[in-house]
Amino acid sequence: MKKDLISLYDLEPTDFEHIFATAGRLKKMLREGKDHAPLKGKTLGMIFEKASTRTRISFEVGIYQLGGTALFLSSRDTQLGRGEIVADTAKIMSRYLDGVMIRTYGHEVVEEFARYASIPVINGLTDLLHPCQILSDLFTIMEKKGTYQGIRIAYVGDGNNIANSWIEAAARLPFRLALACPEGYEPDRAILTRAENEAKEGVALYRDPVQAVADADVVYADVWTSMGREAEREERAGIFAPYQVNRELLSRARKDAIVMHCLPAHRGEEVTAEVIDGPQSVVIDQAENRLHVQKAVMEILLTK
Ligand code: CP
Ligand code: NVA
Repeated sequence: MKKDLISLYDLEPTDFEHIFATAGRLKKMLREGKDHAPLKGKTLGMIFEKASTRTRISFEVGIYQLGGTALFLSSRDTQLGRGEIVADTAKIMSRYLDGVMIRTYGHEVVEEFARYASIPVINGLTDLLHPCQILSDLFTIMEKKGTYQGIRIAYVGDGNNIANSWIEAAARLPFRLALACPEGYEPDRAILTRAENEAKEGVALYRDPVQAVADADVVYADVWTSMGREAEREERAGIFAPYQVNRELLSRARKDAIVMHCLPAHRGEEVTAEVIDGPQSVVIDQAENRLHVQKAVMEILLTK
């Protein structure tokens, strides 16, 4: 595996398999109460420029369970927030830490950090990508459906970081991805074009959510307004209204389709309460798996 996990393109199909197998093993060991401390003495720095519940807790608890420790580094309280350059920060943190997880706005910040850091750098979400989320979502799909091979995944809503990481995953692994996004809110053009050429089972972009969810095994929603876009919230609410994942839309998917959402969710906006809290929803198991999959990523990257 490469030094960093910044994009799902950093992973070969065998790396995905290695991560999923490790995550399954770690999840089982945790359930059985077995101690496993491969990261004893190691420290992960966690730089957050945006809010987080799941990512922060799952990384912090995850490294603790593996015998290591984590430092929460809010950009407000470090010199990064006062303009210290990324290159210096990356070089210096590499002398103290064994790995860094970064959640920030500009994707180029994480790329630049990784260029100057000698330790592994993990992308904990940028405006462009959220690779850890989609990695654990694929693990959840394997648990629920037995495999991701040949599975039809429908993503409905904003062509944001989650959509872009789904597209990158589809370029690497054999599942079918259909997205439905309103005009002007499509996924990243370069990411889509690359995946259209490389995808194993196909990536299709629709305007109509009904077309995207037809025959889907997984119906996936995310917020209409991502972090950093709050000023557009009202405008987006009108534009995205036809993209709500509700009972009617879900009825167009396969009968045994599961509903996924990276969370946090806004009930009554991108998804109805009835659907996200209903029997087809797997969102709580999905959130739990962030822990197991990121533990696998840390164990692999930090013990190399
Ligand atoms: N899904 C996700 O990344 O959640 P947080 O923003 O709470 O970390
Ligand atoms: N697209 C959302 C995902 C949150 C986990 C955002 O960037 O805010």
